[in-house]
Amino acid sequence: MDADLLAGIAALRQRVASARRLVVLTGAGMSAESGIPTFRDAMTGLWSRFDPAALASEEGFRAAPDRVWAWYAERRAGVRAARPHAGHRALGQFAHRHPGRLTVVSQNVDDLHQRAGNLDTLRLHGDIGADRWLSACPRGLGCSPASALPGAPPHCADCGNLVRPGVVWFGEALPEATWSAAESAAEHCALMLVVGTSGAVWPAAGLAGRARRAGAHVAVINPHASELDDTAHQVLAGTAAAVLPALLDGV
Ligand code: APR
Repeated sequence: MDADLLAGIAALRQRVASARRLVVLTGAGMSAESGIPTFRDAMTGLWSRFDPAALASEEGFRAAPDRVWAWYAERRAGVRAARPHAGHRALGQFAHRHPGRLTVVSQNVDDLHQRAGNLDTLRLHGDIGADRWLSACPRGLGCSPASALPGAPPHCADCGNLVRPGVVWFGEALPEATWSAAESAAEHCALMLVVGTSGAVWPAAGLAGRARRAGAHVAVINPHASELDDTAHQVLAGTAAAVLPALLDGV
């Protein structure tokens, strides 16, 4: 790590030590060093290889359910094979040392934070490991899953309703209770760390400005420039797995 980054970490460690409440807002870059691709990194990002409208929207799923179901099955396998890295573990151990002081708010649909010990992570965009019905049961009786054909999403034997991944797709509302808990955490924290997000997607990206307006110190941790750099008081140009342990371990 270069001298600037080390100095930035040293200064921020003081704030971590004194902050009564901290929020860490994470994005896909938090999972990158665990081997899960981000969305917008040039060359490697998912959206540089796949069409988000076709694969991460209800319209796309209705148009080609088997294709979307297969893509999520592949991503789910990647999450299962991934392991939390030192940055995840630093957050989990901090929460264990300081019960009630840290809230992790994640845009990620993987469970790496939870597996590292942040069991109460607020997942704004849902859980890739969860399924739900595509529509409410038209008969109002509840759907009964039929055995799915290989590669196809399960469906209801009676009404044909499809099972879909339990994630928030483009154009869909965030889970209300999770979002209001995230808003409240942002408004009542003394320090927000924004880790591994481009800041391209709202309303999640708006939490950084909300925290700053409420008086929190906001620091971005990202090896590249992001749309939230101007909102932050401080930008640490480093990766999640390198910076978070240096920032949190021993505090
Ligand atoms: N450590 C920290 N940050 C990293 C690392 C790393 N090792 N590697 C990459 N990054 C940064 C990139 O520089 C980029 O700014 O992570 C960010 C990833 O940005 P995106 O791919 O846009 O992911 P994210 O910000 O989480 O996207 C938000 O968009 O497509 C939707 O629902 C999806 O939740 C996602 C949302």
